[in-house]
Amino acid sequence: MPVQITVNGKLLTFDIDPSTALLYVLRNDVGINSAKYGCGAGQCGACTVLLDGKAVLSCTLPVGSITGNIKTLESFEDDKVLSALNKAFISEQAVQCGYCISGVIMRAKTLLDVNRNPSEQQIKEALNAHLCRCGTHTRIIKAVRRASQELSA
Ligand code: FES
Repeated sequence: MPVQITVNGKLLTFDIDPSTALLYVLRNDVGINSAKYGCGAGQCGACTVLLDGKAVLSCTLPVGSITGNIKTLESFEDDKVLSALNKAFISEQAVQCGYCISGVIMRAKTLLDVNRNPSEQQIKEALNAHLCRCGTHTRIIKAVRRASQELSA
């Protein structure tokens, strides 16, 4: 059965089981590499992408249920907030293995979209659902602060 989704502004059609998780379609059929398979059970945040601006866990989201626009980190050059976050994460060297970081950045975007000057506590709360096994949390918080400062300047 054909399923249509819009990813980073492109309308795509797949002949696929609509119950397939979005993450598999993004990685296997669209060629998106940013969203990662961490737990596959909605517990780690590595697969986070945006659906109409809201963070969703693509590992548990059936592709056939999607009616809005999917945004992934691959679109960062066309997005002021993602671009600022991308630069800030590099400047702060907030990545060790990097596996979880795409999900973290997408979630951080949802915070900065509504609050350009979040406190450390607000950043911690926003990113609470994201697990980083490398322990770069302090640098992640600094990177989000740096991006917020650049966006507010
Ligand atoms: Fe989706 Fe862990 S892979 S939440």
